Amino acid sequence: MTGHVGASAVTPATVDGQNAPAIRTRGLTKSYGERRGVFDLDLEVRQGEIFGFLGPNGAGKTVTIRLLLDLIRPQRGRAEVFGLDSRRDAVAIHRGVGYLPGELALEPRLTGRQILTYLGNLRGGVEWSFVEQLAGRLELNLEQRFGEYSRGNKQKVGLVQAFMHRPRLLVLDEPTSGLDPLHQETVTELVREARDEAGSTVFFSSHILSEVQSLCERVGFIREGRLAQLGPVDELPGMNSYTVEAELGGTLPPETISSIEGVSNVKVDGSSVSCTVRGDMAPLIQALAPYEPHRLVSREPSLSELFLHLYGVTGREEEDGATGEPTPAVGE
Ligand SMILES: Nc1ncnc2c1ncn2[C@@H]1O[C@H](COP(=O)(O)OP(=O)(O)O)[C@@H](O)[C@H]1O
Ligand SMILES: [Mg+2]
Repeated sequence: MTGHVGASAVTPATVDGQNAPAIRTRGLTKSYGERRGVFDLDLEVRQGEIFGFLGPNGAGKTVTIRLLLDLIRPQRGRAEVFGLDSRRDAVAIHRGVGYLPGELALEPRLTGRQILTYLGNLRGGVEWSFVEQLAGRLELNLEQRFGEYSRGNKQKVGLVQAFMHRPRLLVLDEPTSGLDPLHQETVTELVREARDEAGSTVFFSSHILSEVQSLCERVGFIREGRLAQLGPVDELPGMNSYTVEAELGGTLPPETISSIEGVSNVKVDGSSVSCTVRGDMAPLIQALAPYEPHRLVSREPSLSELFLHLYGVTGREEEDGATGEPTPAVGE
């Protein structure tokens, strides 16, 4: 019963939803089996923010997005977009949303230009010069047929169609997947510009911590269909942690570094040592220096390592949790 909401029923004010959150879900549930799907999701995304929706593969990011946009129906709960009901007002919501699906299936025989022209005409109000500009910045050749595009170029077509009408809300399902680092950076620039210049709200799903860390004000972590954490990026536990690996000239007694504040997960294997550091790295480096490190690598934890951190689950006996600070899991 979405047909009764014609364009005339939706004034900009109702789409604005005045002070309504850009996205709000309450008890949103779609089960595909135990831990598969989305369960009791309570989420709020503020107007004008870039919200990172993080989770490992299979966590429920795409299911959430499809529920928001009424592409699938929940078993329980509801979702609102700018105060409009995702099911009843789906047509109105779609007018104001730019959506990049996780997988894009478009007519393979049409060129990028033909597809974008068609989609632009359907939407109306799209400036072709902006389409050209987006394609140019992503270095997308519009004259190629969709079926002949590489995965990355298909993704770029999806991105252009999501941004081209300067939507009030961008819903981007893993927007940088399949792109090389240069174009990944272009995507984050486009997201920032959409927010800063058009005041758009951005819902940015990802399984890569680093891109969300620098781009988003707040993030939600989803795991096995449940929201595990929600909050400002810098306040999330484990966010400023690094995994450090070193090759030493000598053998290091583990207690040399496991007693340092912020150091945990110490593993020593002959001349190799690895650990997790939170906060200041100087004490660790000073402690390692006498052991003549000839290789030192520091990297951010992967999402699954971070989840281990968040849940205080080590899964390994040798890890005695030097910091010993169990992290509360919100919403579990
Ligand atoms: N149509 C479907 N039928 C059965 N299982 C599904 C369906 N869609 C999603 N799932 C399952 O729901 C879980 C979450 O999927 P999804 O939201 O696609 O994860 P991701 O976070 O990687 O986007 C996965 O276990 C997936 O297998
Ligand atoms: Mg997905």
